[in-house]
Amino acid sequence: MKSDLIPLLQWYHEMGVDVAVLDEPQNRFLAKQPSSPIIEKSMAAPVLSNHPASQCKTLEELRQAMASFTGCALKETAMNMVFADGNPKADVMLVGEAPGADEDRLGKPFVGQSGQLLDKALATVKLDRTRVYISNIIPWRPPGNRPPTTAEIAACQPFIEKHIELISPKVLILLGGVAAKTLLATTEGIVKLRGKWHSYRPTPTSSEIKTMATFHPAYLLRSPGQKAFVWRDLLAVERALN
Ligand code: URA
Repeated sequence: MKSDLIPLLQWYHEMGVDVAVLDEPQNRFLAKQPSSPIIEKSMAAPVLSNHPASQCKTLEELRQAMASFTGCALKETAMNMVFADGNPKADVMLVGEAPGADEDRLGKPFVGQSGQLLDKALATVKLDRTRVYISNIIPWRPPGNRPPTTAEIAACQPFIEKHIELISPKVLILLGGVAAKTLLATTEGIVKLRGKWHSYRPTPTSSEIKTMATFHPAYLLRSPGQKAFVWRDLLAVERALN
């Protein structure tokens, strides 16, 4: 009976389950499991010179290359690919980590609670989505909002690098540790990286982009006492743009 399933679904919901990865449950306590193709695919690091991002000359080509990419299993569980939002001609580009549930549902970055906080923070320095461009390191939502794995980041990194190259902003803002560590190629934490100017080159021949790392808005929702630091970082961005 369908109605018998409702308490089970409610229990899953209370336990935090919000995505079904496979049609059948798997017993992960058994010693040897048949390996899941979804997990296997995400472990494979791409050969960077052959990565489909390297062929893209326009944003539309990049969007299509991402839509037909098979090297990141997150795509299998996501509802939508989250490409970007904002003005592709903007001087400022922001890069977050990965879509959450709201972004996955609507196919746009930073549209949930952390996005609303981001919009408020941007407004303090007279920026809004007509004056910035926003994307993420990973374009597909990790199930249950878990952090992306190193293999998933490696598979998707050439896309965001090409994205930055095509937008070619004057200033890049990296939101949170994952974006900062990935694009600045460092293991330093966000506390050390934020508040200073870094320089980022999408390719060895492109010119340097002034880059500011700052705290992720989702972190600010949990630690509102840190908001002043982000405001300080945005003031530095405002000064750099003027
Ligand atoms: N967090 C991110 O890093 N990116 C989004 O698009 C939404 C939440």
